[in-house]
Amino acid sequence: MELKNLKLHHFRNYTDLDLSFQPGVNVFLGENAQGKTNLLESIYALALTRSHRTNNDRDLIEWGEKEATVSGRVAHRYGETPISLSFSSKGKHARVNHLDQSRLSDYIGQLNIIVFAPEDLALVKGSPSVRRRFIDMEFGQMNPAYLHNTSLYRQVLKERNAYLKRLQLKQTQDRVFLDVLTDQLVEAGSKVIAARADFIKRLAEAAQPIHAEVSDQREQLDLAYKTLVSSPDLTAMSVDEIAEEFRAALNRQAEREILMGTTLVGPHRDDFQVLVNDNDVAVFGSQGQQRTAALAIKLAEIDLMRAETGEYPVLLLDDVLSELDASRQTHLLLAIQDKVQTFLTAPSLSEVARQLITEPKVFHVNAGKIEAESPQ
Ligand SMILES: Nc1ncnc2c1ncn2[C@@H]1O[C@H](COP(=O)(O)OP(=O)(O)OP(=O)(O)O)[C@@H](O)[C@H]1O
Ligand SMILES: [Mg+2]
Repeated sequence: MELKNLKLHHFRNYTDLDLSFQPGVNVFLGENAQGKTNLLESIYALALTRSHRTNNDRDLIEWGEKEATVSGRVAHRYGETPISLSFSSKGKHARVNHLDQSRLSDYIGQLNIIVFAPEDLALVKGSPSVRRRFIDMEFGQMNPAYLHNTSLYRQVLKERNAYLKRLQLKQTQDRVFLDVLTDQLVEAGSKVIAARADFIKRLAEAAQPIHAEVSDQREQLDLAYKTLVSSPDLTAMSVDEIAEEFRAALNRQAEREILMGTTLVGPHRDDFQVLVNDNDVAVFGSQGQQRTAALAIKLAEIDLMRAETGEYPVLLLDDVLSELDASRQTHLLLAIQDKVQTFLTAPSLSEVARQLITEPKVFHVNAGKIEAESPQ
């Protein structure tokens, strides 16, 4: 998959921008605060209808303006599709082939993206919410059913929490409606758990050989899904079996949930552990080991997305090379070479990058303006 061009209107510090890209590596060089991350953020938003660094869409609109628009043409195996997205105080508006999309979950998946920024090196060490978000964002792009079930789960969870709050405050005594919400929560939640178990297993399988290579065969990576069901192999369980355990866990907490006024068990509390040679690398690993694990997981996603959708995703690398040593830079650049369209930002290119990136298209970013360097 390839993003052929990009147009921005009132997006962050870009009043108007119109760029064409090449299939290989597109490099954006510039000083601090010129708009490099803003540019990658616009591509991420075009793909996923949201930013990877803010929860407030309003931040995306140029200061003093009312509406931001991002559009581009995506080339697939089966042709080209124009997509566009606009953000305003009224919400967001998505179009595919110039046709309005009423459901954002129908829109997501047109352009598949993997982003790798310095914060992602914290994937291993960050809070569980970082890893849940990672699963939801990456897996959601590959699997529309998953996207649907997670958003349904979130919706029911919100409703159930609001109702538990009312029971807590004794505004109601009616437990029948709680049972209805519990049924809905269990149904959506057990599908989410089954899908995550499967995803994490396949991600681990794809990451293992990469990790072995980056660590010179010295280390063995594994990912362990932590959820309310404790089973040595969750992928061997049916959705119904998971649902049964989920319901039993909720039953055990029933009185406490009313006391606390919130849902105490469920996939909204999930996490996964990253193990290196059977030890939790977040706790026992060196910074280098944590980076190697994060890099292997990111690279594995590229292969997984290809396996799942039949096409390579587009890769966004925001200032990440400077955070990696020469050997890890080499692994990363060789892994994407000649197969993954990449958008890479940096203050300047390292020696390793200059040698390994074949014919990059270079752009210079300066205060919300971007100019393409003429080919040498
Ligand atoms: N909504 C907005 N409207 C206008 N300008 C904005 C908006 N949001 C951010 N900016 C400007 O964009 C600049 C930051 O751009 P960006 O984060 O892309 O920098 P960068 O080139 O990635 O820098 P660094 O190398 O430090 O990461 C800020 O200094 C700010 O002035
Ligand atoms: Mg930046």
